[in-house]
Amino acid sequence: MKVVVLTGAGISAESGIRTFRDSDGLWEGLSVNQVATRTGFGRNPELVNRFYNQRRRQLAEVTPNAAHFALAELEQKFGDDFLLVTQNVDDLHERAGSKRLIHIHGELLKKRCTWCEQTTPCDVDLSAEDHCAKCGREMGMRPDIVWFGEVPHGLERSYEALQRAEVFAAIGTSGLVEPASRFGAKAKVYGAHTVEINATETAKSESFDEVLRGPASETVPRWVARFAGR
Ligand code: APR
Repeated sequence: MKVVVLTGAGISAESGIRTFRDSDGLWEGLSVNQVATRTGFGRNPELVNRFYNQRRRQLAEVTPNAAHFALAELEQKFGDDFLLVTQNVDDLHERAGSKRLIHIHGELLKKRCTWCEQTTPCDVDLSAEDHCAKCGREMGMRPDIVWFGEVPHGLERSYEALQRAEVFAAIGTSGLVEPASRFGAKAKVYGAHTVEINATETAKSESFDEVLRGPASETVPRWVARFAGR
């Protein structure tokens, strides 16, 4: 059985990381253009780095929840026939044991030099004045986050997996941001059984074969238990 899972901010909500579009969401009081676009970074790199530094520091205060661990268990069961594609930039999937994982919107724990494009680990506060270890230049260091208008990471590998998927699940995502919001329709065209696991109705709920309603920490372990015949 080939399984592809897409996760969004909702899977990390019960770990204490705010989502983007729920009532007390991350974007509240912030302009996406200021902190999640290349032009915003060009205009005020320190504001953007401060925004991501704050989110990176928060990682030390949160832990994976039962939903993250359940997906790591699913990967154990299906091995190379499993792929987890996440829109999240936190490291909770890794910390729960997931390895077959693509961060299509980048990772808080990485930084990238805008001069030479070198990506390196980053677990401390970032400043645009940081020098690049590879090209030595400064005033170009940015978080390795995919901003609006930029090309997400790992799309080719994601699409290949969607073409072969027999089951596709979208977990904790509002289904509003492309291209991830089209994954369910793509998987369905290729014959996959599609499942939406979310605390509430989304704009895409109607298009799924199956919908599991409830908090991810309860619904995801229950869904994974089905595969284990439990
Ligand atoms: N359990 C399950 N689902 C939940 C929970 C929970 N405990 N809490 C919230 N949700 C659901 C919400 O109902 C919503 O559908 O998670 C979803 C979160 O949606 P968004 O905040 O829009 O997050 P996401 O879909 O990941 O956003 C996609 O948009 O801003 C960009 O790059 C950013 O990766 C992000 C992308």
